Order: sequence, then structure tokens, then C-alpha cells
Amino acid sequence: MNVLVTGGAGYIGSVCVEELINQGHSVVVIDNLQEGHREAVLFEAVLYEGDFGDKKLLKEIFEAYKIEAVIHFAAETTVEFSMTDPQKYFINNIVNGITLLEVMKDYGCKRFIFSSTAATFGEPEYTPIDESHIQKPINAYGESKLMFEKILDWHHIAYGLKFNAFRYFNAAGASAKLGEDHRHESHLIPIVLKTAYNVRLDKAVRGLKVFGRDYPTTDGTCVRDYIHVVDLARAHILALDNLNSHPNSKYNMGNGKGFSVLQVIEISKKVTGVDVPYEFAEKRPGDPAILVASSDKFRKETGWSPLYPDLEIIVKTAWEWHSKYPDGY
Ligand code: UFG
Repeated sequence: MNVLVTGGAGYIGSVCVEELINQGHSVVVIDNLQEGHREAVLFEAVLYEGDFGDKKLLKEIFEAYKIEAVIHFAAETTVEFSMTDPQKYFINNIVNGITLLEVMKDYGCKRFIFSSTAATFGEPEYTPIDESHIQKPINAYGESKLMFEKILDWHHIAYGLKFNAFRYFNAAGASAKLGEDHRHESHLIPIVLKTAYNVRLDKAVRGLKVFGRDYPTTDGTCVRDYIHVVDLARAHILALDNLNSHPNSKYNMGNGKGFSVLQVIEISKKVTGVDVPYEFAEKRPGDPAILVASSDKFRKETGWSPLYPDLEIIVKTAWEWHSKYPDGY
């Protein structure tokens, strides 16, 4: 299949491109390289540098390639920034997304896989969170993704768009070649591993900050459900076929098991052999206490199951990548 991947130079997008290529698909990537890295796009894929909201560029791509499906990763994704500049999130995640859907409609492309987020749920009323859980986002990032999920519903009803939306919980880990390298790093596992790497080199390190210590969890720190990035990427490729039998489905993607921030630090110590220094800090705005997914729906409907459900293995793959590329791409 000819697949257009927006944000294919980013963390999850690039690993998905790798899996698509491994499975024999032809891939065109559009990425403005603000967060993504040219080096993360395998040479077998065609890379267009630009915005996915640029109608002219999109038309050029749709004219040049017979795009049969779009996997849409590109987005503003940092919860924290979405609280101070929500407009940016609504413009990129909604307005530009609508432009993409419009061009797809003009060219008769009806297959769409969307990167949504656990942040669409807000504070969970129960865990694990399944797909029937109420969606009440507590940050503008989650709100923007939820709005776009609803737009997809209407495109399905009115124009026959087939879509699957994945609510990612916490993507982590790396493939042999591709890993997590954000220009502004806010994610727990890469921060812990970078700190561990610097401690090992005897570099002066700033201690890791653990945000909040009085959450209603066993040790007072936030609990998250970590899913290996390769398992997530594989899910997208299964979804391309799944669209035929489930043309308007939304799925929660995680491992169904929660780990607190302190537990992640402990597992990282086991993997790296480094006792990472940390201190407690204020809670981060927009952070729910516990986010754990039930992915039973996707498992049942597609037969998907994670190859790397064990957090220690997930952290190990991330550590191998960080040790190989300590300065990123
Ligand atoms: N954390 C720290 N210190 C840090 C970084 C993170 O204590 O230096 C904590 C956070 O407060 C949170 C946990 O570690 O409790 C995980 O934080 P991440 O930033 O790694 O991930 P989030 O759970 O905040 O975010 C992820 C995705 C978002 C998505 C969100 C769903 O990256 O895109 O899950 O809420 F929206």
C-alpha cells in the first residue's frame, strides 16, 4: 500500500515507517522537522519537509503518489505547553488536521489512522480505562485530540472515511536503529536514562525531578502504563487492514499494567546499574494520578498482542539506544 505518514520523522512515526517498510509498504513522509529528525527517516521512504496543514504541498504529494492511506502522527503533544498556549494546539491539531482530511477527500483517499491520546480521558473514574470510559480531558492537548476524534466520526458518517484512532498511553523503548530524541525532553524514561548515562560518565548531573509525592497511589507518585514503541507501530499496520472490518473504531493502547514514577526509577537502576539521583518537586499541571489502559478491544478485534510487555525490557531497549546515541540523532 502507498502510505503517507505525517510526523514520520518523529519518535513513534519513524518507528512506524520502519515497520511499514519491513512489511513491504511504500512510504511518503511529511514532517516539518521541528520535532522530528531527518536522520530518523529510513532512506527507503520519501521525505517531504513541510507542514501537514500546507494544502499546496499536500496536493503535490497526492498528485505525485497514489496515496491509499494516511497515518497521522504529526501534532503538538506536550501537555505542559498546551496549558499555557492552547491556541497553538487547536490550530495544529484541529485546523491543520481538517486541511489534511479535506485533501484526502479531494483525492478519494478514505483510509486514516489517527494518533490520539490517553489525555482525552482526563482523571479516570476507574482503571484500567476501556473505550467506554467517559472522556473529560483536563488539559488542552487532550481536548484538541478529542475534538479531532469527533471530527473523524462525522467524516465517517458523511463522507465514508474509514478510520482507527489510537489513544496512546505512554510510548517508550526503541528499535535497534530508532529511539526517543525530543528537542525539549519532558518524558520520564529518557530523562532518567540521560541522567543515568551522565552519572556513569561522572558528569555533574542535575538530579531528576519527581513531580508530586502525594498522589493517591501506593507511593504517592503518578502511575503510568508504558507500551513499547515497536508494539505501537505494529498496531498501526494491523489497523490498515482492520479498517475493512472496523471502519470507525477507537482503541486504547497500553499494556494494562501501571508503574509509579519511583518504580520506573527503580527498574532503570536495575537496567543501567546506576542509582539515579532525584528530588521531589511540585506537581506538574495537567497530570492525572493514574493512567492505565485496557487494550482488550484491539487485542480481540485484530489478534494484536505486545511483543515487549515487560517494562524492564522496554527500558533496556531504550537504554541500548541511548547508550549508542547519547547525543541523539
Ligand atoms: N515525570 C517526572 N519527572 C520528569 C518527567 C516526568 O516525575 O522529569 C512524571 C510525570 O509527572 C508523569 C510521569 O512521570 O507522572 C510520566 O511523564 P511523561 O512526561 O513521561 O508522560 P505523560 O504521562 O505526562 O505523557 C504521556 C504522553 C502524552 C500523553 C500523556 C497522557 O507523552 O502525549 O501520556 O496523559 F498525553
